[in-house]
Amino acid sequence: MTSKKFPVLVTGGAGYIGSHAVLALQDAGWPVVVVDNLVTGFRSAVPYGAPFYETDVGDGETVRIILRAHNIGAIMHFAGSVVVPESVENPLKYYDNNTARSRVLIEAAVTEGVPHFVFSSTAAVYGEPEASRVSEESPTRPINPYGMSKLMTEAMLRDVTAAHDLNHCILRYFNVAGADPQGRAGQSTTGATHLIKVAVEAALGKRSHVAIFGDDFDTRDGTGVRDYIHVSDLVAAHVLALEALVEKPAVSMTLNCGYGRGYSVLEVLDAVDRVSGGQIERRQEPRRSGDPGELISENAHVLATLPWQPRHQNIDEIVSHALDWERRPALAPVS
Ligand code: UFG
Repeated sequence: MTSKKFPVLVTGGAGYIGSHAVLALQDAGWPVVVVDNLVTGFRSAVPYGAPFYETDVGDGETVRIILRAHNIGAIMHFAGSVVVPESVENPLKYYDNNTARSRVLIEAAVTEGVPHFVFSSTAAVYGEPEASRVSEESPTRPINPYGMSKLMTEAMLRDVTAAHDLNHCILRYFNVAGADPQGRAGQSTTGATHLIKVAVEAALGKRSHVAIFGDDFDTRDGTGVRDYIHVSDLVAAHVLALEALVEKPAVSMTLNCGYGRGYSVLEVLDAVDRVSGGQIERRQEPRRSGDPGELISENAHVLATLPWQPRHQNIDEIVSHALDWERRPALAPVS
């Protein structure tokens, strides 16, 4: 473990994954500064002790002032838009939020001499994979604008790293779910579309039913199969990635973040029923546009590169933490 602990800027630190990352960094002793435009994030989700700026990463001038003021030594970039079907409806929003504004942030990092950059990418860069498991070497052929918007930012980062004094770690997330086991953070997204969040809301009566989008995929039960990863394991990989970047400034990495196993929609809904003790109403609906049938991570590379030890692979545990968070009364807003 590295002994140098400089301030880390977390963009999107008021969001679901970003707020968990702030906690993980703080737990590991890193000072954290948060920027978030609060379009989808919540001020109350920013963990105690992290200075907060309500700023958009596309505002380069303000970001540069923050980088300088806090002597930031690394950026973890979570801010962005994350809903696959929305990206199909509104691609320009995704190329703006995920690509153009990332370009501004990367430029600020270069201008201010920030040496390390950790980027939230996605398994959606692989599109419809040829094999059931995808490795970092698999072809990247996104089938939706969301995946393409992230892939373009990956390309920028690689080019910028080659030209400037910066190293990076690109983490390609599979399906992130669950909540902090200590109950300090969770997913508070309003109008959520992600399966486990939707299903736990239905289990608690906040929704009437769960739609099953497609039953005719080439999978074991016809429904979509995904590699669900617990958010706490995911953010643990970020902290380890940061330490690796600091230890080896000449090395950059692209790593899949998943467990290497998949669950179908029906298996996830069974888990939610099992954990909640109820029975969610299921309604069969047509496929959503832009959805691949199966997306599972080959994770040998991350396991070999970082001292990462996943702790929460069990689907019932993931669902149970999501359910525990969902049961909490809404937090009072902090102004
Ligand atoms: N699904 C349903 N009903 C729902 C919601 C989802 O059947 O109400 C199905 C989807 O069709 C898919 C699976 O559940 O088969 C997972 O869908 P999500 O919407 O939860 O997640 P996606 O797989 O579409 O996308 C997520 C992230 C992306 C990431 C991708 C990687 O949003 O950032 O996982 O697999 F790239």
